[in-house]
Formats: sequence, structure tokens, C-alpha cells
Amino acid sequence: MLNGKRILLIIGGGIAAYKSLELIRLIRKAGGALTPVLTRAATEFVTPLSASALAGDKVYTDLFDLTDEAEMGHIELSRSADLVVVAPATADLMAKMAGGQADDLASTLLMATDTPVLIAPAMNVRMWEHPATKRNLALLEGDGIGRVGPDEGDMACGEFGPGRLAEPQAIFDAIMARLGDGPLSGKHIVVTSGPTHEPIDPVRYIANRSSGAQGTALAAALVRLGADVTFVTGPADVAPPQGVRVVAVETADQMLAAVQGALPADAAVFAAAVADWKVLGASGSKIKKDGSGAPPALALGENPDILANVSQMETGRPALVVGFAAETDDVIAHATAKRARKGCDWIVANDVSPETGIMGGDENAVTVIDAQGAETWPRASKVDVARRLAGKIAEALA
Ligand code: CTP
Repeated sequence: MLNGKRILLIIGGGIAAYKSLELIRLIRKAGGALTPVLTRAATEFVTPLSASALAGDKVYTDLFDLTDEAEMGHIELSRSADLVVVAPATADLMAKMAGGQADDLASTLLMATDTPVLIAPAMNVRMWEHPATKRNLALLEGDGIGRVGPDEGDMACGEFGPGRLAEPQAIFDAIMARLGDGPLSGKHIVVTSGPTHEPIDPVRYIANRSSGAQGTALAAALVRLGADVTFVTGPADVAPPQGVRVVAVETADQMLAAVQGALPADAAVFAAAVADWKVLGASGSKIKKDGSGAPPALALGENPDILANVSQMETGRPALVVGFAAETDDVIAHATAKRARKGCDWIVANDVSPETGIMGGDENAVTVIDAQGAETWPRASKVDVARRLAGKIAEALA
């Protein structure tokens, strides 16, 4: 439940604006309070009256409405909320946010707020894929702004692809994850996931077969329990879950920097399959065959151990640090030694021998090892393993 938490809902002008009315209904049903703000363009798609009737509150549209300024100034309006949600976030609104423009009420509120902001982008697929939108999105994510969607599918303009507003239920889930009363609400958890790519030259790299499935399922399960999750992911096959703050990286060095940048956190879970080695002196241009028939020699250097680095921090170490261990033999003995060597609190060990079908499969069988000993869980789907592990993390942080 949202128990009176207040959401400032900025409705941008796009064909998907009508879906924001359903979002208002879901928020109200969960006991949330709402103040809708419509951009001028949004009023072409939904009427202030319908937004106001569903929200049960006044709707704001114009920066220079002096009556409103007397009732509640725009600074106050932007800060009295627990969360600012922008749905739909049009390409234009995202550009204004990224550029720090404040030329109407919506953009002024977004500049003035000190409250967390969640955007639900919606636009034509070409606009979503335009380099300008990509640049703006990167800036917004760098500023710590959360995002849900967009979805992929048929669009009102007749094209197909990513750009559709996330379903109201998905936006609502992302709001609940931030404001709901889950056992992990108010807790910040960093999760690493996926493989890393270590460049050889601009077109080639060393990688591994991690799909990112277990890390993604875990981040989603933590969000469902109310955690604020920073999801640091290498180039994974699986898309990041909704409702997390995504930091996309390629190399182990970048992953370490991203994790350090995301701290402090209450817990950190390292599900990434980080490459142990990087190519020293990776070539800045494509390595060519030199005609001699001799292959180029690659000098490898060790990557930083991100899990060990964070586990052994002298100040600011997360209260709970969890590592994974993929082993093929003597699973418990190797994983127990790994826990001690790296200094983490728990190691989630799994047997990735080919006959288990776990690597790249949908199921996992894990043993959770802590200072007290080992606890083996029955084989289950990666989603169920994630759910159980998230529950155990919630108990440990309670
Ligand atoms: N890990 C990490 N940084 C690295 C290597 C591993 O953070 N450079 C983390 C992984 O995310 C995982 C744990 O350490 O949580 C164990 O990873 P694993 O590959 O099983 O262990 P290694 O340290 O690589 O040991 P080994 O290859 O010798 O089994």
C-alpha cells in the first residue's frame, strides 16, 4: 500500500497520455495521493477535468497561474511529493530535463525538485532511437533518474519497435517498489549482473557465456520487496528488469568504477560473471594480419576483483556483501574457501558442470554459505531462487 504517499504526476503530451488516467486510478486504489500536472500539449490528449476527477485533487497546467502560486508555489509543489513521476515522458520533455530548461510548469517543477524522479518514456521508435534521445537518456540516468519502459510493440503511428509507454501496471509496480511498504523499502542494494567484455581492439573482445538471467531475476525480486536497486550490468542477453537504476558497463574496470560510484549501499550482490583477465595494451585500431602467418600475441593482465574490493572496504562497506561462485567440482569446499578468501558475508554456490544444465538454463540449484555453514536449497527456477534469496536478504537487513 502507498498509505498516503504523495506522487506528483507530470503528464506529457503524447498519444499515450490517456494511459496516465489508468495509472492515476491504480495509485488512488493503493491509497496514494496525487497531484497531476499537465503540459500544454498533454491537454490536447486528456482533459484537466478527467485527470482532476480521478486524482481527487486540483490539476496544475500553467506556470503563471497566480492563484496557484498563492495556494502553493511551484517550489513547494515540486518538493511536497515523495516521488515525481513523468508519464508519458516525451522526447521533448526528456530533452528539456537533460538540458535543464525550465520554460513551463512541468519543466520548472522538474528543475526545482529535490525528490526522486521516475520517467516512463513514450515516443515514436525513430525518436527513441535517435542519437539525441540516447544522449539525453544517458544524461538523465547519470543524474540518478529512474526509468520504466518503454515497451516494444505496435505503435499508434503504425510503426513497430521500442517506444510504447510501459503499461500502467508496470509503472505502478515501479512506484510501489520505491514507495510501497515492502520489507526492503528504504534500502539501497547494488546488484552486478551479466558478463564483461574485455576489448582486444575496437572490434574484438574476450567475453563469457553469462546471460545475466540470475542477476536480473534477483534484482527484480529485490525491487518487488521494495528495495531501491542500482543494477550494474555488463552486455547481457536478458533486458534489465523494470524499476531499477541501470548502469550499463562493458569491462571489469568500468564495473568496479560503477559499483564504487553507486555506494553507499545497505547490501551489494555480485552476480556478474566478471572476466578474470583483460588484454593489456588493447589496440586502438583493428589488428591486421601481417602476412607472416604468425598470430598476434595477446598479453593478459588480471582484472580487479570487484567482490573482494567491496568486501574488504575499511569504511563504508555495505552491511551485507553477497558473492556467487560457479564451480564444477567440490562445490561446497571451493565456495567456502572463496568466501573466506574474498571476505564476503555469503557465497551463493552453484554447480555449473554441463550435466546440470544450469549454465544458460532456466533452473538453478544453489548452496548458500555463510560464516555458520552451508544451506543447500532444492533445485528450482532461477526466478524462485531469486525470490528466496531476496527474502533471505530482507531478513538479514531487517
Ligand atoms: N567477481 C568479481 N570480480 C572479479 C571476479 C569475480 O566481483 N574480477 C565476483 C563474481 O561476481 C562472483 C564471485 O566474485 O560473485 C566469484 O566469481 P567466480 O568467477 O566464481 O570466482 P573467481 O574469483 O573468478 O575464482 P575462480 O575463477 O578461481 O573460481
